[in-house]
Amino acid sequence: MKNKDKLNISKSLKHFEDSQLLVPGGVLGIRRPYNFVEGEYPVFVDSGKGMHIVDIDGNEYIDYLCAYGPVILGYREEEVDNAVISQIRNKGFCFSLTQEYQNILAKKFQDLIPCSEMTIFVKTGSDATTTAIRLARAYTGKAKVMRCGYHGWHDWCVEVKGGIPEKLFEDIYEFRYNDIESLENLLIKHGNKTAAIIITPFGHPLAQKMEEPGPGFLEAIKSLAEKHGAVLIFDEIRTGFRMSLGGAQGYYKVTPDLACFGKAMANGYSISAVTGKAEIMRTGEKKVFISSTFFPNSLAYVASLKTIEILERDDILSSIRENGNRFHNRVQAVIDKHKTGAELSGIGPMFFITFKKDKEKTYKEKRMLFYTQLIRRGIFMHPYHHGYIAYRHTDDDLDKTVQAIDESLATLVE
Ligand SMILES: Cc1ncc(COP(=O)(O)O)c(C=O)c1O
Repeated sequence: MKNKDKLNISKSLKHFEDSQLLVPGGVLGIRRPYNFVEGEYPVFVDSGKGMHIVDIDGNEYIDYLCAYGPVILGYREEEVDNAVISQIRNKGFCFSLTQEYQNILAKKFQDLIPCSEMTIFVKTGSDATTTAIRLARAYTGKAKVMRCGYHGWHDWCVEVKGGIPEKLFEDIYEFRYNDIESLENLLIKHGNKTAAIIITPFGHPLAQKMEEPGPGFLEAIKSLAEKHGAVLIFDEIRTGFRMSLGGAQGYYKVTPDLACFGKAMANGYSISAVTGKAEIMRTGEKKVFISSTFFPNSLAYVASLKTIEILERDDILSSIRENGNRFHNRVQAVIDKHKTGAELSGIGPMFFITFKKDKEKTYKEKRMLFYTQLIRRGIFMHPYHHGYIAYRHTDDDLDKTVQAIDESLATLVE
């Protein structure tokens, strides 16, 4: 199979050059060119509709990154956007007092999410995980935190430690996904000082295969949390309103004390939440201060209510799961055919193509070549981050993508 020619992304590259004089790094962190395949992926997007995006050079792509997760339906989903536009035109959204949507959305959470008794709405995933940690520390009167997964960019959990005094993360310890012993060992040492155990219930580490919890793994974490009087927090920022309407906790039937939601809950509008046991959440009444000028801004609440209404009404998550499973099987067949060391991991709604690690590190070269061929064929997937299936991925999109994966893998074996 032939290598495809490089795309013309000259406008994107010129804008990126300009942006480096205006914004440190040109664009923020994970959106920088070196996080994709440098010189091959566009840097600036112009528009999107359904699951197609168009870059500023006019190249069109079928997108599987879904804005890093928030887009569960599609870009410019009319029903959601119309609800927001109507709110802007008819009521307004930024006031000194709270609008009624807060209660309606909190009630919806109670109805859908197993751990949800009370909810605090904030704006970003990092706001939510940090709020959950603060509530847990206030509730238990303890400081240490055991963590597993990516939880955002705030001081306590960010990987890059520049600008953060050590005392702000010295009480944080990492354990490994599906390795209960790694948590047990930490708790033997620090159990009586541990305020919280926070974990992404489905394993989605950066640039590595995705993992479902092994039998009894989440249950074992829950009993360790109970044994040590620590608050169990599920970070459902990616799994929430994707794996099921009740999140991964509903899907795996393990209920944490608190859980964080964000991304898919509003199809791209900025809102996130901490939800859970009333007794713990109530530390947010007086002991813990959580506030921001924009937290009560109602546009994202309206978007979230409409998104959840559509998810429920049209049983969207079942259809995403079915499409995703079919896609998964077809991609697996193509991978098996080519024997390039490519590996597919994940579940229906979230998938990732990685390459088997080898001592010579040829997997890095294969990854770069494969994703280069994919982007040149108009498939926007990320070399280091898993993809998502959204509602507006059509059969035609998925067919074209399977074919592009087939052709791109074929270039590796020639
Ligand atoms: C599991 C998880 N938790 C927390 C976050 C942080 O969310 P945000 O980037 O909205 O602050 C992310 C973001 O990717 C995430 O995937």
